[in-house]
Amino acid sequence: MKKILITGATDGIGLETARKLKSLGHELLIHGRNPEKLDRIGAELSSPTFQADLSELSQVKKLAKEVLEHTKSLDILINNAGVYKTKNPKAKNGMDIRFVVNTLSPYFLTKTLLPNISSDGRVINLSSAAQSSVNFQALKGNTQLDDFSAYAQSKLALTMWSQHLAHQQNTNGPIVISVNPGSLLGTKMVREGFGTSGNDINIGVNILTELALDEKHLESNGKYFDNDSGQFANPQADGLNLEKTKELISILEEQIGSFS
Ligand SMILES: NC(=O)c1ccc[n+]([C@@H]2O[C@H](COP(=O)([O-])OP(=O)(O)OC[C@H]3O[C@@H](n4cnc5c(N)ncnc54)[C@H](OP(=O)(O)O)[C@@H]3O)[C@@H](O)[C@H]2O)c1
Repeated sequence: MKKILITGATDGIGLETARKLKSLGHELLIHGRNPEKLDRIGAELSSPTFQADLSELSQVKKLAKEVLEHTKSLDILINNAGVYKTKNPKAKNGMDIRFVVNTLSPYFLTKTLLPNISSDGRVINLSSAAQSSVNFQALKGNTQLDDFSAYAQSKLALTMWSQHLAHQQNTNGPIVISVNPGSLLGTKMVREGFGTSGNDINIGVNILTELALDEKHLESNGKYFDNDSGQFANPQADGLNLEKTKELISILEEQIGSFS
């Protein structure tokens, strides 16, 4: 039995993955931002709940603290929460909310929890087939992007830091894998953002479950899984660019530093 924290487990792929992992007998820690949805899902899955709006770093810090008060160690962290379209694209710290929720907050959460994730544990990060070169000025909040650019850049940025943290772990820490769960899966994000009912959500649920648990992925540290092609693949070219990754990490660290 594994102890698994899954963010954004109140809807879509996160919720269905939580249901599946629970049915397989694992112990879940459920994160959400909406207290009512969270209470409902926590009761349904008989699991502890943790409330935090990931568009604010102070709430990410509180989330990590509450998780560590609840448990000394985790086996698996699934960074699933994500946002595409929103009426308010600017987060409180001045950055685009996609960069905060999809990139910076999971980076901060992962780094804070990492010492308490078992050495044979895993971090699974929800990337996307939508990946484009990060505009560092936009990342800093100096340039406004359209919804799709902000989303695609935030997902490549997450894929870049996943590889960076994976390589820092060497052979003695949890492994870090990023994954495109499959494109246009039928969730709220896809219905509202793309106006289509979408594909079977279980395509995403099954690959998250496999990457989190299957022994065959023990050697997959730092890799990106593209579930549209059903295999590990290269991310967009910048994802393999060490100089750009270094710059990205230094901006993320600056943002964390200026907050704490
Ligand atoms: N669906 C796809 O085809 C697809 C494809 C590629 C990647 N993905 C990725 O898969 C992940 C799950 O997406 P989904 O399709 O299942 O979308 P979804 O149904 O909209 O679920 C997103 C989850 O993230 C939570 N969330 C959003 N903003 C948040 C915030 N500021 N603070 C805390 N939690 C927040 C939502 O909370 P609420 O319940 O309160 O709304 C919800 O639980 C995302 O990272 C997405 O980018 C999805």
